[in-house]
Amino acid sequence: MNKDLLSILDLSKEELDSLLDLASSLKATRASGALTSHLPGKSLGMIFEKASTRTRISFEVGMYELGGTALFLNSQDMQLGRGEEIRDTARILSRYVSAIMIRAYKHSTIEEMARFATIPVINGLSDREHPCQLLADILTLRQHFGSTEDLTVAWVGDGNNVCNSLILSATLAGYAVRVAAPDGYLPPAELVEEATARGGRVTLAATPREAVRDADVIYTDTWISMGSEHERNKRVSSFAGYTVDQDLVDKAAPDAVVLHCLPAHRGEEISDEVMEGEKSLIWDQAENRLHAQKALLVQLIGEK
Ligand code: CP
Ligand code: NVA
Repeated sequence: MNKDLLSILDLSKEELDSLLDLASSLKATRASGALTSHLPGKSLGMIFEKASTRTRISFEVGMYELGGTALFLNSQDMQLGRGEEIRDTARILSRYVSAIMIRAYKHSTIEEMARFATIPVINGLSDREHPCQLLADILTLRQHFGSTEDLTVAWVGDGNNVCNSLILSATLAGYAVRVAAPDGYLPPAELVEEATARGGRVTLAATPREAVRDADVIYTDTWISMGSEHERNKRVSSFAGYTVDQDLVDKAAPDAVVLHCLPAHRGEEISDEVMEGEKSLIWDQAENRLHAQKALLVQLIGEK
């Protein structure tokens, strides 16, 4: 396994499968009330440049449940916020903690952290990718459908960091990905090409309806990612017609499910009816962040 998880493609198909097997087993053990103390004495430094609910809490509780500890580090409260260099921070943290999880605006910040850290670095979301989210998403689909190989996943909305990881994950999970995004908000062409070159089945759809037709999964995310708040008005008007509502969900396969990485904005990218509806797997998906990341931590820093 690679030292770091910066991209979902840092995992091979076999590594992803074994990580998800472990996640399922950790989930079952936790449900039985038994302890899962695989990481006694280990610590995770969690650096955040941006807000978080799920990533912060699931990593923190995950480390606690594994018998280790996690430190919440707001980058603005660190010397990083006063200009200390990433490479120096990386080398110092490597002497204190067992792994670093970092949520940053720029993907290059996370890459630099990984280059200079001698310990594993986990991407907790960047402008390019959100690999930890996809671990939970694939676990959720695997547990619901039994396998992800023959599914079609329709992404409706912004071609953003989560969409990018979904596209790349097609090469690992085997599902076909159809993306419907307005002009100007498509995922980067080079990323779609990379997924396709690696055997991923990825297509761009002209409309949300075309994307979801007979799809097994409909996935959406905010139209206004962290850092894009100043574009709110322009984005809300560009995404008109891209709301995942009941009418759109009814165009998908009869047993289709709906995913959203959260936080959600009801009435924008998703309707309240769909969020609360029977096809929503959103709450299981959020819970699975915990189980998938515990498995990731065990694989990255557990005793070999
Ligand atoms: N989905 C996700 O990463 O949520 P947070 O921003 O709350 O961590
Ligand atoms: N695309 C969103 C995901 C948040 C978990 C963002 O980057 O803000």
